[in-house]
Amino acid sequence: MKLSGNTIFITGGTSGIGRALAEAFHQRGNKVIIAGRRKALLDEVAKANPGIDVIELDIADGAQIQQVARQLIGRYPTLNVLINNAGIMPFDNAGSALDDAQAVHLINTNLLGPVRMSAALVEHLKQQPESTIINNSSVLAYVPLAATALYSATKAAVHSYTMSQRFMLRDTSVRVLEIAPPWVDTDLVHRSGDPRAMPLDAFIAETLEKLATATQEVVVSAAQPLRDNVGPNEYAFVDQFNLSLKDNPIPVA
Ligand SMILES: NC(=O)c1ccc[n+]([C@@H]2O[C@H](COP(=O)([O-])OP(=O)(O)OC[C@H]3O[C@@H](n4cnc5c(N)ncnc54)[C@H](OP(=O)(O)O)[C@@H]3O)[C@@H](O)[C@H]2O)c1
Repeated sequence: MKLSGNTIFITGGTSGIGRALAEAFHQRGNKVIIAGRRKALLDEVAKANPGIDVIELDIADGAQIQQVARQLIGRYPTLNVLINNAGIMPFDNAGSALDDAQAVHLINTNLLGPVRMSAALVEHLKQQPESTIINNSSVLAYVPLAATALYSATKAAVHSYTMSQRFMLRDTSVRVLEIAPPWVDTDLVHRSGDPRAMPLDAFIAETLEKLATATQEVVVSAAQPLRDNVGPNEYAFVDQFNLSLKDNPIPVA
């Protein structure tokens, strides 16, 4: 995609990858609008980056998505890029009782959020000469982290949905891209400086470089080994991955 001259709406722009992408696109000459629930952080991003516009949105709420989409189309007629980035990563135990409320909230946020947001904007995006929908999945879409089983499943679903979306939009002006980040050092779980996590600035730099030419996926080189895990060795690979993290787990606080 072209990296300047767009009007870009980013969900989950109050922190981490979403905020960093918003600031990078803003600096490259795009009109950027970010959304999130935390009003104080939205205001902070707007103050630090004059020109970035903000909008309150709980992506787990279908009615709010409809309302925000109407506002966006009214206020930004040239809106041509949607980045579905907002997400949460609660830990769970697929071998134990289910926390039903947590599970429903997770699916509403990570899966139905981007599905609903895309659907609410897609007719508008089709009317633009060049549009892009970017869905932020995860390498855990390809290799599940057993300690976040349902999170990994929502991201596998985002990957699957992205492929269908791309196919259905193939004859329109809307391109559909997926970003599948590795572990990036953000507040998603706990920003810890763990050396296994990719620093946010390095992740954003490589992601933007790849976005410039991507037609389908943006996978930074650190994530490629996990992305490549498909085929008959999948089960052994998943076991090995989860066992390697068992003795040295992701810090949660
Ligand atoms: N960091 C990683 O290692 C990693 C790896 C793979 C994929 N990802 C994906 O990258 C995306 C961004 O995560 P991050 O690492 O940047 O984490 P983060 O710093 O925690 O950012 C998450 C963002 O999502 C927003 N969000 C969460 N729930 C929301 C809701 N109900 N409504 C609206 N916004 C909501 C948050 O905003 P508010 O709280 O203000 O609403 C925040 O801006 C997520 O989809 C995550 O799954 C991250």
